[in-house]
Amino acid sequence: MLDWSEPAPAKPATNLPPILTGKPVVSEQADPTGLGTIDRKGGRVSVDDKAMINCRADVNQLLPLKYKWAWEKYLAGCNNHWMPTEVSMQADIALWKSRDGLTDDERRAIKRNLGFFAASESLVANNIVLAIYRHLTNPECRQYLLRQAFEEAIHTHTFQYIVESLGLDEGELFNMYREVPSITDKAAWALKHTQNLEDPDFKTGTPEADRALLRDLITFYVCFEGMWFYTGFAQILSLGRRNKMVGIAEQYQYILRDESIHLNFGIDVINQIKIENPHLWTGEFQEEVRGMIREAAELEAAYGRDTMPRGFLGLNAALCEQYMHFIANRRCAQLGLTRVFDETDNPFPWMSEAMDLKKEKNFFETRVIEYQNGGALSWE
Ligand SMILES: [Fe+2]
Ligand SMILES: [Fe+2]
Repeated sequence: MLDWSEPAPAKPATNLPPILTGKPVVSEQADPTGLGTIDRKGGRVSVDDKAMINCRADVNQLLPLKYKWAWEKYLAGCNNHWMPTEVSMQADIALWKSRDGLTDDERRAIKRNLGFFAASESLVANNIVLAIYRHLTNPECRQYLLRQAFEEAIHTHTFQYIVESLGLDEGELFNMYREVPSITDKAAWALKHTQNLEDPDFKTGTPEADRALLRDLITFYVCFEGMWFYTGFAQILSLGRRNKMVGIAEQYQYILRDESIHLNFGIDVINQIKIENPHLWTGEFQEEVRGMIREAAELEAAYGRDTMPRGFLGLNAALCEQYMHFIANRRCAQLGLTRVFDETDNPFPWMSEAMDLKKEKNFFETRVIEYQNGGALSWE
């Protein structure tokens, strides 16, 4: 069982790809998509033939596995399967419709939070399917990407279910990423990096193109899913701790469990590409990545000020900014970079408890029954 609450450092395979060992590749004709003409004389794939990017070994042969960390995450994702409709929304509906159950500040933060996530889940899914997938030339990583893509669909479904349950204005919520500047700024910043890759003529194989792929992976896995989502979770889980919007808070716990594996996978992918292609990870590029992480934290601080101009019990923009500095430094460490902000304490130590579904069965005072497949839970 993976410890999904604490992102682990990458466990890189020691074998270098053929491009670095000078060994002949399996097939000169094989194409990275796996959809080219079948090479009838192509040999069987061995572990040493496999590589994260720019690999010409057949991507349609899953076995033998080389990157076991990718396969383990695929299995963990399957074990964690859940559906948003399993969570009761009755308490949330009653609270949302009551006149004085929520303050105006709480309502504003909830709506902006939902608006940010509603479109972000689609942006992340589209980036996986349309930008990343074809450039990661390894079948076990692709197996995980397919699982992740489905999880992003479940997350988008969650926001449809919330909109429907609470009777929210669907146009307002799903359009917020274009109408609310602090949300638009984050989405636009991320889209800058995926736009290079979705060009049909984009190909990896040059240092410039390979770094463009790394920038996309860092933007989406580290900044989007690994930083911005975390303040989003903190906002809703903080309300859940005060017994407010407990249905949404439960759904966010499940999303957080999924996202922590997405983050871990992204960190492992980036670190493995670094190991196999050390020429890409120059001092200059490391500084650029640190700058990206700093910028992402600043965008999140602006979003915090916009969503919580006055703050509410236990949560305000200053605490969220501190949390972002703490998280940004952690992400730097996971990528082997020096930190970008002064060392700071985690202002939300309860987040690690909220992430641990097994230990915190009564976190929202609901009863939990575990499914046979272990990771999934049923709330009553
Ligand atoms: Fe997601
Ligand atoms: Fe995700």
